[in-house]
Amino acid sequence: MHFLKRAIVKILDIDSWHESDYMSKEYAKYTVSIVDRITQNDRKVKVVEVGCGLGDIIGNIKHKNKQGYDLDNKIVFGAKILHPCTKFNVGSFMDVQECQKLCLIAVNILHFLDPDYVERVICDIKNNNDLDYVVIDELHDTVGTVYKYEYNGLKLLGDDFRIKYRSRRIQASEGACRYVVVYERKR
Ligand SMILES: C[S@@+](CC[C@H](N)C(=O)[O-])C[C@H]1O[C@@H](n2cnc3c(N)ncnc32)[C@H](O)[C@@H]1O
Repeated sequence: MHFLKRAIVKILDIDSWHESDYMSKEYAKYTVSIVDRITQNDRKVKVVEVGCGLGDIIGNIKHKNKQGYDLDNKIVFGAKILHPCTKFNVGSFMDVQECQKLCLIAVNILHFLDPDYVERVICDIKNNNDLDYVVIDELHDTVGTVYKYEYNGLKLLGDDFRIKYRSRRIQASEGACRYVVVYERKR
């Protein structure tokens, strides 16, 4: 798989960051394991990842009802080759289709996106879906690093959500660190 991924990155001229091996990405493995746990207990959930890259996360989740979106059409093309059992589309937050029980994953993407935009799209997704779970990564110690923005899920989602799971501290680039956090809608 890793050889095929490297070949896809090279042939499609994709940013070399995407060559990174799934097994070496702690945050990705944690996200997969925790979403597997959620979907084992809640089979009706649809899992959608926005900013899915080559599908390391969404493609390794066991649940069948899942979909990945990425803005880059070359990356989406590569993800389809690497994970043929997962649906991928070119798109973003505003393309998430209405659904009954949604688990939204946005990991390793928010800290590059403008907070006004993120607030607006999350609010739209909340209004148009039964949003039950949101999985994001929260970055700390980002000053002087590649990460532009730090997000706090509770501030972003409002008080109808609570933390269900939180990873241990995971090392990120340039001395920053991240926690993967799962938010659950209060019932
Ligand atoms: C750093 S990669 C992370 C990929 C994946 N989440 C992972 O951790 O393996 C960020 C991805 O988000 C995509 N992206 C950036 N802005 C986006 C947006 N507004 N909507 C959808 N995808 C976006 C990029 O094309 C890139 O593939």
